[in-house]
Amino acid sequence: MSNHMKQDQPATDCKLDQMSQDLLGKPIARSEGLAKVTGTAPYAAEYPVDNCLEGVLVTAPFARGTVTDIDTQACLAMDGVVAVVEDERMTARAAQGTAGEAPVQQPRTVCYWGQPIALVVAETFEQARDAAKHLVISFDADDLDDVAFDPNAVDPENKESTSQGDLTRAMNEASSNVDARLTTSGHASAAMEPHAAIAEWDGSKLTVYASLQMLNYNIAELADAVDLEEDDVRLISRYVGGGFGSKLGISEETVAAAIAAMQLERPVRVVMSRQQVFQCIMRRSETTQRLRLASGDDGALTGFGHYALVSNLPGEEFAEPVLQSSQFLYAGENRLLEMDVARVHRMTAGSVRAPGEAVGMPALEVAMDMLAEEAGVDPVELRLRNIPENHPVEGTPFSSHKLAECLKQGAEAFNWDSGKRKPRHTKDGEWWIGTGMASAARVHNVSEAKARVTLKADGTAMVETDMTDIGTGTYTILGQVAGEMLGLPRDKVLVELGDTQFPRGSGSGGSWGAASVGSAVFVACQALRKKLAERAGVSEDELSLKDGAISGGTSLVDLLDGKDLAEEGHYEPGDIDEDFVAAGFGAYFAQVRVNRFTGETRVERMTGAFGFGRVLNEKTARSQCIGGMTWSIGVALTEALHFDPVDGHLVNCDLAEYHVPVHRDVPDLDVIMVEERDPAASPIQAKGIGELGMCGGAAAIANAIYNACGARVMDFPMTPDRVL
Ligand code: MOS
Repeated sequence: MSNHMKQDQPATDCKLDQMSQDLLGKPIARSEGLAKVTGTAPYAAEYPVDNCLEGVLVTAPFARGTVTDIDTQACLAMDGVVAVVEDERMTARAAQGTAGEAPVQQPRTVCYWGQPIALVVAETFEQARDAAKHLVISFDADDLDDVAFDPNAVDPENKESTSQGDLTRAMNEASSNVDARLTTSGHASAAMEPHAAIAEWDGSKLTVYASLQMLNYNIAELADAVDLEEDDVRLISRYVGGGFGSKLGISEETVAAAIAAMQLERPVRVVMSRQQVFQCIMRRSETTQRLRLASGDDGALTGFGHYALVSNLPGEEFAEPVLQSSQFLYAGENRLLEMDVARVHRMTAGSVRAPGEAVGMPALEVAMDMLAEEAGVDPVELRLRNIPENHPVEGTPFSSHKLAECLKQGAEAFNWDSGKRKPRHTKDGEWWIGTGMASAARVHNVSEAKARVTLKADGTAMVETDMTDIGTGTYTILGQVAGEMLGLPRDKVLVELGDTQFPRGSGSGGSWGAASVGSAVFVACQALRKKLAERAGVSEDELSLKDGAISGGTSLVDLLDGKDLAEEGHYEPGDIDEDFVAAGFGAYFAQVRVNRFTGETRVERMTGAFGFGRVLNEKTARSQCIGGMTWSIGVALTEALHFDPVDGHLVNCDLAEYHVPVHRDVPDLDVIMVEERDPAASPIQAKGIGELGMCGGAAAIANAIYNACGARVMDFPMTPDRVL
């Protein structure tokens, strides 16, 4: 039985507030944590499948042109080699930035260096890898003028713009203004688990174990890629070793494994090498941005301009949504927000952790720091003075808004010195020490989701949905939502995820997972409670469940009377987003030391204060914030994709050369979760958390570098050569 809830109005009266299990929000450790750290949780490549062949992808050694011939003779003659698969469909890749869209890049036409063009299949992995080197590829490479990011190669089709008033005049008439140009580098998602798939074909049904974020979309993508009906495809993704956007859509290893298995009638495993993950999987676009801010004496913004140039392959629709928070974060009558896309022959640009805000917010927040200095206003105070009442253009109200509280609580916890700020105030031996701050903001998203909850005759419950847990704690929090609603301790709720045989969840992406699929579980549990109330002869409102029984009365086991009771919950976002701006907000404070001689920056301490609606699990929520702040250290100091300007290949394609912050780079991060309920955000009053933690944090570090040593670096990451 399906129970549908379309959210058309704010959930002002949330049932969860009257529950008594005392489970929701508690800092419970991830239920699958032990299996993961002991190596018993199977990741995509690790499922025990008999008689499995091994496939190795062969990629294009040029950035642009056509493959004219693939000579397989030498390769096929080698020990153990079974086939070379060159199926057209195999390398026609999905536009990963926008899950669910049809593949756009054609196989024999090479658009970027490292594009997969064939799959060598052998009995063992070593044989396949060796044979792959003996494939002889002939190609016509086009001239390579456009492998470099050329700010002038703007696609006239993709201009985006919103404007109000007259920004130029506001700039001219302002008592203080800032006109700043900043750049950010391309980023890799760099998930720990490489992209991998095992496909099995029984002659009519295809089963694929893969590492994916959005099974609900991925099943359609895969069915489409291999010409099957969705009903004949099953995707399994129980554990995912990080996604960060890179597994929103299916990519070549999954399609290649499926096609090879169908063609060869044996299971086939394809695991991308670390280098292939870097070379083939989508990147975050590099950006160049211009911020124009105009204010009166008091720092109140009168003009707000944000321009961004991003890039992508020709034909791709995704454009890094850099301006997303700039639309609503700060006041300012006169506004001009514009974005362009340049076409460049690098791997597809798509969603990488907090697409848009991850690089837009740092640029904006450096400009705000410059304005604070210019206007002689404390940076925290400057933000407080510019929080708009409503959306500055549309006039719509915020669903809930905790920026001011985050700024205040964060400043207090960090012991922010709000006196007059001047660079180079503190020296310790060869180190300059300074502090900086920035705001955080990210739009809140929700997505349609279904989940089935079954009360078992033995008094336990089971939650089933094809939702994935990409390391964020989904297994745990769905158990908490169900346990709270049904009056069961967490260990009496079994959560089964990551299998398309279950009802379609929301998938994990855009920070919408917890609020969306959590709401589907909530809806299913409400339906169960209704049935239980009927059986117990009480009204739904009177029904109080705790520890497997009606409070002080009949146990669930007795009520169920030997039979399971199942309900499906179907949550669908309504058009509530037309009435409200829903977003998460926060504030970061950082202290850095910068070496006077080497330009090296160390983050000494960092505080983040965030408001993101109801916290479903204090521990996993905090971990998401810590993860986000760690990403912001990467954006600030270390992470950058480097492309060869001559042939367009990615130079730093492993974790030794693409520098994500490691333990030594990250101090103890102080996280404050500001109490908030957002009735418009979701029926369970929760908002997205995951990505907010990195939306602006890099600017707190950049501003602290300036405060420490006086270097106003305008290019992220702020590596020693740029700081000196
Ligand atoms: Mo996120 S970049 O939508 O996984």
